[in-house]
Amino acid sequence: MTTALITGSTAGIGAAFARRLAAQGHDLVLVARDTKRLREQATELHDRHGIEAEVLTGDLSTDSGIEGVAERLTDQRRPVDLLVNNAGFGNKGRYLDVPMADELTMLKVHCEAVLRLTSAASGAMRERGRGAVVNVASVAAFLPRGTYGASKAWVVQFTQGAAKDLAGSGVRLMALCPGFVRTEFHQRAGMGTDNIPRWMWLDADKVVAAALSDLAHGKVVSVPDPRYKALMGLAKLAPRPLLGGVTSRTGRKYGPR
Ligand SMILES: NC(=O)c1ccc[n+]([C@@H]2O[C@H](COP(=O)([O-])OP(=O)(O)OC[C@H]3O[C@@H](n4cnc5c(N)ncnc54)[C@H](OP(=O)(O)O)[C@@H]3O)[C@@H](O)[C@H]2O)c1
Repeated sequence: MTTALITGSTAGIGAAFARRLAAQGHDLVLVARDTKRLREQATELHDRHGIEAEVLTGDLSTDSGIEGVAERLTDQRRPVDLLVNNAGFGNKGRYLDVPMADELTMLKVHCEAVLRLTSAASGAMRERGRGAVVNVASVAAFLPRGTYGASKAWVVQFTQGAAKDLAGSGVRLMALCPGFVRTEFHQRAGMGTDNIPRWMWLDADKVVAAALSDLAHGKVVSVPDPRYKALMGLAKLAPRPLLGGVTSRTGRKYGPR
């Protein structure tokens, strides 16, 4: 029996990770801010799959929240075999329209918390000679898309570098880069999504199935879905200034508002 800790487990992609890993028989540590929702999720997963589901309330935009989760990850009596750094959010508006405090909170949750939790987990895993970390980024990492894209680009680069440094230690790291996924993300950010074409939407359960398969195959960066693999292939070939112009025009036309 192995244990997975998932941040942002109560909704969207995190909840899909929790469902799939519980169905595979893994015990879970569920992390988010809403304790009532976490308890309901833990009870449901325990009843349905017979696994142990622990609730850990924490706000990853605060030092104490990050420290609480890091402590759990380094508890030698209750090892965590898989960490999924998934908690995240979007800010509505373009650069300079978003309040500075919200930009900084994003960097804290998307970058600082991911750095500190990956490091806590990887250190403990390296001592045991096994373990894995999935850092949820986005295809926005490959496009010039404000602080959100920049924070996710950091997640990808950081994960690639750390994976290289930990090669041979038994600890695997993977950055997961989905496109648009139907979750609570856009609604929570107050973004309209009517203009996003239907074909661009992905299903969270399918994203997670593809991610876990890529992890098992040793991939360091996972772009789950052939549509987005093709789009990102084109984006890599395009000159940077051209890419900036195209993504800003298409983002205004087809992106969340
Ligand atoms: N949806 C997409 O189109 C999409 C695409 C690419 C990448 N992503 C990335 O996927 C990840 C998950 O997003 P999602 O779409 O599944 O979002 P979601 O449905 O809104 O779920 C977000 C989860 O994160 C938790 N959370 C948010 N802020 C937190 C904080 N400060 N501390 C602890 N937990 C926090 C939420 O629970 P509480 O509110 O209770 O804390 C919730 O469980 C994010 O990193 C996002 O950037 C999403």
